[in-house]
Amino acid sequence: MAANEYVVRTKNVCKEFTMGDQSLRALDGVNLDIYRGEYISIMGPSGSGKSTLFNMIGGLDKPSSGSVFINDVDMAQLDAQELAYLRCRTIGYIFQSFNLIPVMTALENVTLPMIFAGTSTDECIDRGVELLELVGLGERLHHKPSELSGGQQQRVACARSLANNPAIILADEPTGNLDLKTGKEIILLLKKLNVEQGVTIISATHDLKMLDISDRIVWIRDGNVERIEQRSDLDLKVGQVEGDES
Ligand SMILES: Nc1ncnc2c1ncn2[C@@H]1O[C@H](COP(=O)(O)OP(=O)(O)O)[C@@H](O)[C@H]1O
Ligand SMILES: [Mg+2]
Repeated sequence: MAANEYVVRTKNVCKEFTMGDQSLRALDGVNLDIYRGEYISIMGPSGSGKSTLFNMIGGLDKPSSGSVFINDVDMAQLDAQELAYLRCRTIGYIFQSFNLIPVMTALENVTLPMIFAGTSTDECIDRGVELLELVGLGERLHHKPSELSGGQQQRVACARSLANNPAIILADEPTGNLDLKTGKEIILLLKKLNVEQGVTIISATHDLKMLDISDRIVWIRDGNVERIEQRSDLDLKVGQVEGDES
């Protein structure tokens, strides 16, 4: 087995939230191995723990117990600087509400992570333009988020997630704020980035349109992996979903 076969592994990840004297177990022993280059959808109803798992894998929050490995490195072993480096270089993030900086143009939003990574200005601009062309926004470089549609803003966020050529893109409900057609376009774009850029995509979603293009679907319920399905096992059901939508 190749040493770097897995890009992400979680071992018995638990997360408890305490509010007052109430404690809630949002993740209850999640074990998940994700292969390099996969497109994974984490599916489950609202409140099942998708975003909590997203935050654990993305190093945005820490498990109460258990471990998350990125490229075979236990995230708990990293100091603050190493964790910041990993979040800047190894992982790109896409959120439901786009999270673009309103006063910055599309190009400035895309180049910002490269500036944080210490890339030279010329290189930032060249790569920023290239990435915005890749997501179909070559004509919108100098538009601010308020001058772009929701779908276009999410395209900017997709370009930004690739800024530092990450191994992984984490997307939390990337189609949650988009209409059906625009949502489909973003899903196809993510698949294109997965195939053409070879980036592993992990998307938390309850959008069944995502089933079509995922290599594997991880169903979670009440903070636990309920089952994992291969894309090939889903053919009949996907036909059913498409039928339901039309
Ligand atoms: N910061 C938090 N503090 C307290 N409870 C939280 C927090 N974040 C999430 N939860 C709870 O954890 C559970 C899982 O939430 P979440 O991961 O956001 O679910 P999903 O993304 O699948 O909708 C929910 O019951 C939610 O209320
Ligand atoms: Mg969520």
